[in-house]
Amino acid sequence: MFEAMLGVEVGDDVMFEDPTVLELQRRCAELFNKEDALFIATGTMGNLVSAMTHCTERGQEAIMGKSNHMFLYEVGGLAQIAGIHTNTLTNRGDGTIDITEVRENIRNPDDDHMPRTKLICMENSHNRCGGLVIPLSHFQEVRQLADEHGLVVHLDGARILNACIAQGVAAKAYTGYTDSVNMCFSKGLGAPVGSIIAGTADFCRAARKVRKALGGGMRQVGVLAAAALYALDNNVVRLEDDHQRAKQLAKAIKEHGGHMAEVNMDTVHTNIAYFKLLKKDVVNAAQMVERLNQVTDEEKKMLGFSAIVQTLAFSETVVRLVCHINNSTEDIEMAVAKLRYVLEEMNQ
Ligand SMILES: Cc1ncc(COP(=O)(O)O)c(C=O)c1O
Repeated sequence: MFEAMLGVEVGDDVMFEDPTVLELQRRCAELFNKEDALFIATGTMGNLVSAMTHCTERGQEAIMGKSNHMFLYEVGGLAQIAGIHTNTLTNRGDGTIDITEVRENIRNPDDDHMPRTKLICMENSHNRCGGLVIPLSHFQEVRQLADEHGLVVHLDGARILNACIAQGVAAKAYTGYTDSVNMCFSKGLGAPVGSIIAGTADFCRAARKVRKALGGGMRQVGVLAAAALYALDNNVVRLEDDHQRAKQLAKAIKEHGGHMAEVNMDTVHTNIAYFKLLKKDVVNAAQMVERLNQVTDEEKKMLGFSAIVQTLAFSETVVRLVCHINNSTEDIEMAVAKLRYVLEEMNQ
């Protein structure tokens, strides 16, 4: 990837002059079967730019799952920057939101008391719901409802290619149901920086201006687009390795969790695995994260190596594991051994 970035042809992208960015945007428009695409610094900015481009009037509302990244983890940018009102609905166990509930939450446009519903935001794979793949049938029903009410649909597809690899479908199968999509090159695809949004030519033209207003117009940014192009050419098929490895880690927890930890294997669809601590008064998620970050002398002696497993506490009882391009087969084998050791230690 670094070699692909070296010596790449660049230009001023704010002036449409960077050939590598233009090539990346063309490739992504093709990938998502959209008219155009726009390179953006981050996934958070991609979602914000997309929402601001769709919601051009004050007092417009976006409906989305309560567990969606756009609601939980983007600093409330929709509210604090874009002035968009969010209406959040509970994500069900499979990551979807109930379509009847969505219908009931679409505002009456003739009622002066209410914000005006404009946007429905989806996410796939669904990070907070465990990296779950949202079925195409859900996209289809959301699209149908949006069309009935003249709404637009945005997909936070930060990890859409993980969902596609897991489902064995092309990205355009999903984006055929959405007006816009945002995808990150900086997650499983392994690029250092960058996201892409895609939609109609008019959407992307308007989004350029929003991106500029947010300070996201970048100049000789072909060096980063080259990394993203490399990722598209080389790092997509291998996402399946990350999915298998997440299953391997989850299996270790299932087999050795005992009365301390459990995992639902049915929810490990992609590169993310969540496990739940069953006795938070003995070991909570933060303590588990800390323990996995340490190596004891006894452990080193028993395992014959020193390894830390970096994880994230997602709540008091839930810990998230994510597999990525920089994990080798040996890393995962060591992580499995470490998890087994720590769980057995905790179960004593
Ligand atoms: C589903 C989802 N959307 C958007 C983002 C934001 O991406 P970034 O960190 O590039 O701003 C993330 C980051 O983890 C994510 O998981």
